[in-house]
Amino acid sequence: MKNRQHFWLSVVWFALISEAFVLVSSQPLAVACGSKGGKDEDGRNWESDEKYLKSSHGSIQLQAGYQDPSLLSIIPYMNARIFTSPAMYQFPIKPKKRYLARFHFYPAAYPNFNISNSYFSVTAGEVTLMNNFSAQITCQALTQAYLVREYSLAHSDSKFLNITFTPSTNYTNSFAFVNGIELIAMPNLFGMTTTVGYDSSSDLDISSENLQMMFRLNVGGQYIPPSKDSGGLFRSWYNDDPYVFAAAMGVNTEADEGVRIRYKKLSHSSAPVDVYRTARAMGRIGHFNLKFNLTWWFQVDANFTYIVRLHFCDFEDDSVNQRVFNVYINNQSAQADPYAADIIAWTGGKGIPTYKDYAIFVNDGPGDEMVWIQMTPSTESKPQYYDSQLNGVEIFKLNDENKNLAGSNPQPSSMLLETGSKPNKSFHSKSNNSVLAGAAGGAAASFVLIALAVYAYIKRKRAGGADSHASSWLPLHGSSPSNGSKYGKSNSSDASALAQGLSRHFSISEIRQATQNFIDSNVIGVGGFGKVYKGLIDGGTNVAIKRSNPSSEQGINEFKTEIEMLSKLRHKHLVSLIGFCDEGGEMCLVYDYMALGTFREHLYNNKKAQLSWKQRLEICIGAARGLHYLHTGAKYTIIHRDVKTTNILLDEKCVAKVSDFGLSKTGPDMKQGHVSTVVKGSFGYLDPEYFRRQQLTEKSDVYSFGVVLFEALCARPVLNPSLPKEQVSLADWALHCHKNGTLEDIIDPHLKGKINPECLNKFADTAVKCLSDQGLDRPHMGDVLWNLEFALQLQESADSASGWIDQGSSTSSDSSVRSQRQVNNSSQGSSDLELNEEPNNQIDIFSQLVDPKGR
Ligand SMILES: *[C@@H]1O[C@H](CO)[C@@H](O)[C@H](O)[C@H]1NC(C)=O
Ligand SMILES: *[C@@H]1O[C@H](CO)[C@@H](O)[C@H](O)[C@H]1NC(C)=O
Ligand SMILES: *[C@@H]1O[C@H](CO)[C@@H](O)[C@H](O)[C@H]1NC(C)=O
Ligand SMILES: *[C@@H]1O[C@H](CO)[C@@H](O)[C@H](O)[C@H]1NC(C)=O
Ligand SMILES: *[C@@H]1O[C@H](CO)[C@@H](O)[C@H](O)[C@H]1NC(C)=O
Ligand SMILES: *[C@@H]1O[C@H](CO)[C@@H](O)[C@H](O)[C@H]1NC(C)=O
Ligand SMILES: *[C@@H]1O[C@H](CO)[C@@H](O)[C@H](O)[C@H]1NC(C)=O
Ligand SMILES: *[C@@H]1O[C@H](CO)[C@@H](O)[C@H](O)[C@H]1NC(C)=O
Repeated sequence: MKNRQHFWLSVVWFALISEAFVLVSSQPLAVACGSKGGKDEDGRNWESDEKYLKSSHGSIQLQAGYQDPSLLSIIPYMNARIFTSPAMYQFPIKPKKRYLARFHFYPAAYPNFNISNSYFSVTAGEVTLMNNFSAQITCQALTQAYLVREYSLAHSDSKFLNITFTPSTNYTNSFAFVNGIELIAMPNLFGMTTTVGYDSSSDLDISSENLQMMFRLNVGGQYIPPSKDSGGLFRSWYNDDPYVFAAAMGVNTEADEGVRIRYKKLSHSSAPVDVYRTARAMGRIGHFNLKFNLTWWFQVDANFTYIVRLHFCDFEDDSVNQRVFNVYINNQSAQADPYAADIIAWTGGKGIPTYKDYAIFVNDGPGDEMVWIQMTPSTESKPQYYDSQLNGVEIFKLNDENKNLAGSNPQPSSMLLETGSKPNKSFHSKSNNSVLAGAAGGAAASFVLIALAVYAYIKRKRAGGADSHASSWLPLHGSSPSNGSKYGKSNSSDASALAQGLSRHFSISEIRQATQNFIDSNVIGVGGFGKVYKGLIDGGTNVAIKRSNPSSEQGINEFKTEIEMLSKLRHKHLVSLIGFCDEGGEMCLVYDYMALGTFREHLYNNKKAQLSWKQRLEICIGAARGLHYLHTGAKYTIIHRDVKTTNILLDEKCVAKVSDFGLSKTGPDMKQGHVSTVVKGSFGYLDPEYFRRQQLTEKSDVYSFGVVLFEALCARPVLNPSLPKEQVSLADWALHCHKNGTLEDIIDPHLKGKINPECLNKFADTAVKCLSDQGLDRPHMGDVLWNLEFALQLQESADSASGWIDQGSSTSSDSSVRSQRQVNNSSQGSSDLELNEEPNNQIDIFSQLVDPKGR
């Protein structure tokens, strides 16, 4: 009896002990290396690394010499442990458990160490995680200040995990360093995986493989910070925008309030609810979707197998065969007819999530180091809706047969190497634009070329977002998550949160210094928002600083809109935001300085140099490109709402840039087609239809742009009350004159006799179409642009014909292939303006670009 009691006591005791043991050893470990530890900005506790450090001769604790403003937190980034010889950490782990290991690197200047010399390897147990790794080169290529690398380590039998850091012996004075290490036990979320391009007999079992996380995206949704992750894994989920290929972005969808996400058999650790509540879909626009693939692309290291995990959750449909679609990875069927994806068939109901893993080997051919994911509706199964959707993506690199996960360092672009020599200078759009200049510059541009420019732009903006990957392209949203808390800015307003990581944050003292304390002699403009000052930053860069009028509530909203818009938009013909200041009750926006001022100043009522006809045409073309990009190039249609000659600015090379996005509206989904708003804008440019119906479409911008075109031609104010009544409004008067064939009489006297008549006709016809009373009759911005390009061609070939050989009146003599093509094109359509009027044409062009080999 006594024995039996004793036995039961032992059982209970044992159970208690082992329970305690489980609790202790599966606690997530966060270690701040080279420091005493403490809480990070998210309130998470980091402990010192001392007790885990085993062999550590030549290990030094140092504090970074400079705190980059994009750092999310002092802990763990501002302190580092530096190793000048091989060193090892030993962490207690639970045997037979998969572990997630995360490394934080901040390659800053550390006293007495030259970060350029830091090359090292890292191993975890038998697995090589990094080799010849340079955190500095990697960060430079990603234009990030810091770097997070995450690995998922297969279970082992050991009670300890040895993590070693070995400085490379191939570089003199080389050293290894690390700022933070996390170690978290995780459920084994890996198992049998379909191998893309092979039959099911070659499926891979990855349950005991080691992986490196390359990308983790909340598709169609917001950034999810580590504190909001599920399963206590502290993962970051980034928005997928920068990885969507070409202009066919689809639509973002979100589950209705009433839809509950039920995990059923799925582990809660697979992804947080927010991943499954949002998705990117094609939109329910019918057969049109059959014409293209929704495509994402990712740059990866060659010669590795990648596990592509696609997260799905249908929160709209109830039954099978409502939405069925094909999924391709690297141009091979992952889930295509007759095995097309039907989420409801997989999960059994609305709101039930699932994920699917696919393995793909990535070769080392030129241009091959990519993972492409493409989706298009299934035709075979004749679903109710021709639509496809994706909720989340994770891409993991699989270790090779030598248990190696290390790739090579990425190559920063030569442009970055130039700007990178000043690590204190934040990355900003200027450099980005110089990349574009090559693609979008030059006079040549048919519609296809515009598409190419957009493509090139999008191509450049890929990268970033993910914690770590080898990419030499510029990120759109840098390293800083848009709503993560930021050291020292925890009480900043939501306006700052909007732009974090995208723009530089200026202190009010920097702004005061730049503008000589807002001295009036530096004022270069005054708007509804407040005054605009010329300023000087970084000891020699001219900027324009817009200071809000603190008393104006409207000003604050417009300020936020502008940050929000401009942070997302980068284009050669849009004015670029360098940064902002939101401190001490002051709100300022800092832009590139536009040396030549506004377009209007060069047209009338000013002593500025007169522009030639060709210059005016080129400015109009530039502005049209900027607007076309707003309407089609970005995620949503963006309507500028205040197109006018004072919002078209000229840089020192007379390149036009559209500015002032304070009134801009993001368009709604395609179905609705317009936004209802209170009428805003500038008189003289205002779309009469918008005024009547209060419904805003991008055609309102087209109307205003038509007025701009006549302003450029006639060089007079759009409203001049001192004139006879019928002439007060330029738009009305120009239409009237055009109808009566007297337009010649009202053009700018400076241009008389200098415009080729065919060019003038083309230009005037375009402007007149823009001013059509009904939005539907107005051309798209892309067509306007095309016609203006054509007008420029007519002018140029006329100029060269008269300047070179006298070919009589053969203005359309085709010395250039370009104009040949355009003339051919124009003879196909009944009218140029109808070309591309069908949105199909536009998408067709984009889908040609979507073909990765069609580059
Ligand atoms: C650091 O090393 C690089 C390359 O070895 C060298 O170009 C650079 O001047 C060094 N920087 C300093 C501050 O010594
Ligand atoms: C970790 O390192 C210690 C000391 O060098 C060694 O005894 C042990 O076997 C290593 N453990 C593993 C799993 O490699
Ligand atoms: C040094 O370079 C050689 C070849 O150049 C390479 O095989 C070796 O792995 C390198 N050593 C380290 C520690 O990177
Ligand atoms: C990939 O493997 C091929 C063949 O083994 C080799 O020639 C190539 O250099 C490797 N590429 C990389 C990036 O390691
Ligand atoms: C979608 O992508 C797949 C794989 O690249 C391709 O075979 C298919 O033709 C594409 N469909 C369309 C409509 O572009
Ligand atoms: C180490 O990385 C540097 C920089 O990316 C590269 O130039 C060098 O060739 C690499 N060395 C080895 C041995 O791979
Ligand atoms: C960056 O700027 C800070 C403060 O302006 C300065 O102390 C530091 O030396 C600079 N770092 C570099 C690498 O230029
Ligand atoms: C995709 O596959 C199809 C058919 O196999 C082929 O015609 C096409 O060229 C491929 N596209 C790419 C980008 O590899």
